[in-house]
Amino acid sequence: MEIFTKSAAETKEAGKRFANDLIKSEKTHLTAALIGDLGSGKTTFVQGFAECLGINQRILSPTFILMRKYLVTNFPDRFKGLYHVDFYRIPENPHEEARNLGLFELWGQVGNIVLIEWGEKVKDLLPLDSYLVEFKHQGQGIRNIAVNTLKR
Ligand SMILES: Nc1ncnc2c1ncn2[C@@H]1O[C@H](COP(=O)(O)OP(=O)(O)OP(=O)(O)O)[C@@H](O)[C@H]1O
Ligand SMILES: [Mg+2]
Repeated sequence: MEIFTKSAAETKEAGKRFANDLIKSEKTHLTAALIGDLGSGKTTFVQGFAECLGINQRILSPTFILMRKYLVTNFPDRFKGLYHVDFYRIPENPHEEARNLGLFELWGQVGNIVLIEWGEKVKDLLPLDSYLVEFKHQGQGIRNIAVNTLKR
């Protein structure tokens, strides 16, 4: 999936589309690294994604607390929690932070969705079936968003 969005609303729609693809698939868990400069639309994308899963709470940036958990209400038999992680602030040891947050127990587990802003910092640790979602500023409110499977 690769698209250009012209507004925050369109980036939310892209997040919804990514969630819909997940819902239509057979997958029972999802991990995605969201990669892109400051203000490129990562949190906005998560907001659209979360809406699609029936999460009505406002999605706030988890920058200062690193991780927020939301209960997935729309598909209770299939998905339990959406974990929204933000690694912007972690300076040195992403591996240790990932361990402290319990990510090794969370990601890849049935029922868990883990979306990680600045996820390139833990790219080498991600489960092999993870996704990369890359955001690029194209000027004048335009963003390029590309979804790929993790290659390494
Ligand atoms: N096409 C677009 N898609 C997404 N956001 C856009 C777009 N055009 C303008 N914006 C604005 O850019 C900002 C994107 O902010 P957002 O918090 O989603 O970025 P972010 O990638 O999470 O940043 P950070 O790295 O600081 O967490 C918002 O203020 C939004 O209104
Ligand atoms: Mg953000």
